[in-house]
This record gives sequence, C-alpha cells and structure tokens, in this order.
Amino acid sequence: MAASSATSPAAQLLASKIAARTATVAVVGMGYVGMPLAVTVADAGFAVLAVDIDDARVAAIARGESYIGDVPSARLGPLVESGKIRSTVRFRELQDADAIIICVPTPLNKTKEPDLSYVVSALREIKAYLRRGQLIILESTTYPGFTREVGLPMLEEVGYRCGDEFFLTFSPERTDPGNPRYDVSNTTKVLGGVTATCTEMGAALYRQVIETVHVVSSTDAAEMAKLLENTFRAVNIGLVNEVALMCNTLGIDTWEVIAAASTKPFGFMPFYPGPGLGGHCLPIDPLYLSWKLRSHNYTARFIELAQTINASMPGFVVQLAADTLNDHSRAVRGSRICIYGVAYKPNIDDVRESPALEIIELLHRKGANVVYTDPHVAEIEVEGRRYVGVTEAEARSSDLAIITTDHAAFDLVALARDGNLILDTRNATRRAAVPAEYLHKVVRL
Ligand SMILES: NC(=O)c1ccc[n+]([C@@H]2O[C@H](COP(=O)([O-])OP(=O)(O)OC[C@H]3O[C@@H](n4cnc5c(N)ncnc54)[C@H](O)[C@@H]3O)[C@@H](O)[C@H]2O)c1
Repeated sequence: MAASSATSPAAQLLASKIAARTATVAVVGMGYVGMPLAVTVADAGFAVLAVDIDDARVAAIARGESYIGDVPSARLGPLVESGKIRSTVRFRELQDADAIIICVPTPLNKTKEPDLSYVVSALREIKAYLRRGQLIILESTTYPGFTREVGLPMLEEVGYRCGDEFFLTFSPERTDPGNPRYDVSNTTKVLGGVTATCTEMGAALYRQVIETVHVVSSTDAAEMAKLLENTFRAVNIGLVNEVALMCNTLGIDTWEVIAAASTKPFGFMPFYPGPGLGGHCLPIDPLYLSWKLRSHNYTARFIELAQTINASMPGFVVQLAADTLNDHSRAVRGSRICIYGVAYKPNIDDVRESPALEIIELLHRKGANVVYTDPHVAEIEVEGRRYVGVTEAEARSSDLAIITTDHAAFDLVALARDGNLILDTRNATRRAAVPAEYLHKVVRL
C-alpha cells in the first residue's frame, strides 16, 4: 500500500495490518453475499472470522461444507482446514477482528417498508464488543443516509471518535449469483466513508482483495449508487414488461421487436420481459429509496410505476395460461399445470421473491393441479403448502407447462415434442431452437 496519510495511531496501526495482510477480517452474515466475500478475503491471505446466528450454517462452515452455489466446498474446505476461515456464533469473538463487514439481510416487512432489524441487531452486537482501531463496513443494501443517521450514532455511543478511533464505511455488494464472468474479486467496489480516514481504511482493505475500488465522497453517495443501479434495472424491466403487455394487446411478437431494436449500435440497451421481478434485490431495493423519499414528501414516480407493472406480471401470466387452456377447450380448474423453474433466475437455487411462487399460488386458488420442475430446487413452500419438484419426464405429461425460469438444464425440445401446451414467458423455446413442427403448442409472453 502507498504511504498512508492516516494520522491517528489507531488508523496507522490498522493501515499497516491491512498492508501486511495480517488484519483479521470478520464477515457477519454468511449468506449469498457473505460466503463469496469471506472466501475471497481469505484467498487474499487475511484471516477470516465467519459470524452467523444460524448454528447449522456455522457448523457447516466448520466442516468445510458450503451451502452457497457460487462457492464450492472444494474452495471453502481448504481455507477452513488451513485455519484461514473460522466460523462462530459468538459475537464476543469480534473483539479479535480488525475489520468487520456486515452482510446480513435487508428485506421488507409485511407493509413493504424497509426491515433493518437484522442490520440493527448486528450493529448492536458489534457495538457491544467495539474496540479502538476497528473498521466497520456495511455491505447490506440500505436507504441513503442509514449508515450516517443510524449506524454512526449507535457506534459512537461507545465513546470512540469515528475517523480517529474507529472507522465506518458503506460499500454496497454487487454479487450476481450464478454469473460465470464477474465475481467479488473482479467487480469494481464502490465505497464511501463517514470521514476521509474511514474511506481510506475501507479502500485500503478492499484494494488488497478486489481489482478496482471506486471511492465516493460519503456513505450517502455509496448507498444511493447501489439504489440507482437496482432502480435502473427495475424501471427498465418495468418498461419492457409494459412493452410486452402492449405487444400482446396489438398481436405483435415482443421478442422479435426487442431483437430488432437491439441491432441499434448506440442508444439502446435490451431488457427482457418476464413473469415478474424476483430475488432479494430488484423487487426490494427500489422500495428502500421510495420509502426514504416519502419522509421528504417526495414521491418516487418511476419506482412506483415500475413496481405496479412488474407486480402485475404474475397475474398477467395466469390470465395468459387461462386463455391458452381455454383456446383448447380446457379450464384452469382440474388441469395439471407444471411450472418450469421456480428459482428467480436461471441456473441458481434462490427462490426468494420468485414470481413463480405467486403464479403457483394464483393457479392453485383457481383450482389447478399445480406441480413444478426445477433441477436446482428440490422443494418449496407456498402459503404453507409444501411442493416437491417432479422430474422433467413427469412434468411433460401436464396439460400446460409454464416456462418461468430458463434453466440451461431444461430439455425444452423434449417438452415441445412429448408435452402438451407450453406458455413461454422467457423466449426460452426460441433459444432452445424448438423445431417449427412443435411451435403450434407454444404461446409466448
Ligand atoms: N443475494 C444477492 O444477490 C445480493 C446482491 C447484492 C446485495 N445483496 C444484499 O446483501 C445483503 C445480504 O443478502 P444475502 O443475499 O447474502 O442474504 P442471505 O439471507 O443469503 O444471508 C444472510 C445471512 O445473515 C445471517 N444473519 C441474519 N441476521 C444476522 C445477525 N444479526 N448476525 C449475524 N448473521 C445474521 C443469516 O443467518 C444468513 O446466513 C442484503 O442487504 C442484500 O440486499 C444481496
């Protein structure tokens, strides 16, 4: 590391430990975000303390077993065996850490407002064991202002001065589960600190681990940058979902239109329609922003409109399913309908906020006999009902298959050949080059 401009003794000591990679880094929350981060930090040579409240997860890590798809046990195991990663449920061990990175969930509550209880609970534990010289980094997505308005006062209650005696930064996580090209180490990290020294400490740590660090002037700017990224996607998906609704009304093939527009070499970026927004980020993060703005008497109009359109898509898919069956003199009630793919995106096992679950619920309420097939998800629960996935061979005997997730492992040619009706919400049958002779069975979104 270049000579540090850090002035306080605590900052200088921390900077030297980071530069020598002798700092211990604690990762609090070992989920989709925390696990890949922990192995990346350990690979860079730092000792990592993996902290979680879930006993089963902590025990699995201690055995070197990963439960996160992007991190094979073959990668985690040797790091645990060599002592580079140690897992614990005891927050008191945070006293040993020089840096603490928070990766706990930030969902919405029942009334669709930010639920920051996990972050606040993690901060409370960190505060209880805060010692001079520690660097605290929040990676969980939150609204602009949270780190400064909530995190800072909580930690300052201990009596240490932020920027001199402890350091606080926000650095949003950009994990894209299942992405074979970009992982933690080659995805640029945005970071903003409460003070210039906080920023310097946070950036110094990530520069040891990640190719590029992009520093911004405040934690607020870093928080807002994350929400811009995800709002950008949610709004553009909302726009293209509305285009799909318009094309459906006009009898035009949405996918053909997008493919044509995409030939423009400038000023157009393709987004694709689907059965609705899923995952832990896109359906949730923009609502953190609109919630915060409501307290300033400002209505985040794009976010609310996109939210309304995206949220209407599962219902639209069910309507299309009903119309498709109706065109073949069948009712939804009593039909066997198979959902192809319940994960919210291809080739992963995460079903959080997946629109497929809402589609299953809506079809169930209409009296359909709903089954699902998904090579990545063995079983799911929808409104208290447990579903065990059927095999693709079993799925093909359904009256209607609804392709909700375009998993690479699906054999859609076999489905088109041996199956009955298909409602394709992902243009997957075209990508799979289903032969023309079977296309009369296929309806696209
Ligand atoms: N999953 C993604 O693709 C993604 C991408 C970018 C950002 N994020 C953000 O990262 C954050 C974490 O998301 P995730 O997907 O990793 O969640 P996750 O549910 O996969 O993992 C969270 C982990 O935190 C643990 N936990 C909960 N409360 C805790 C506490 N008080 N102390 C210690 N551990 C605790 C849970 O047991 C779990 O293991 C969220 O803010 C999310 O918005 C997620």
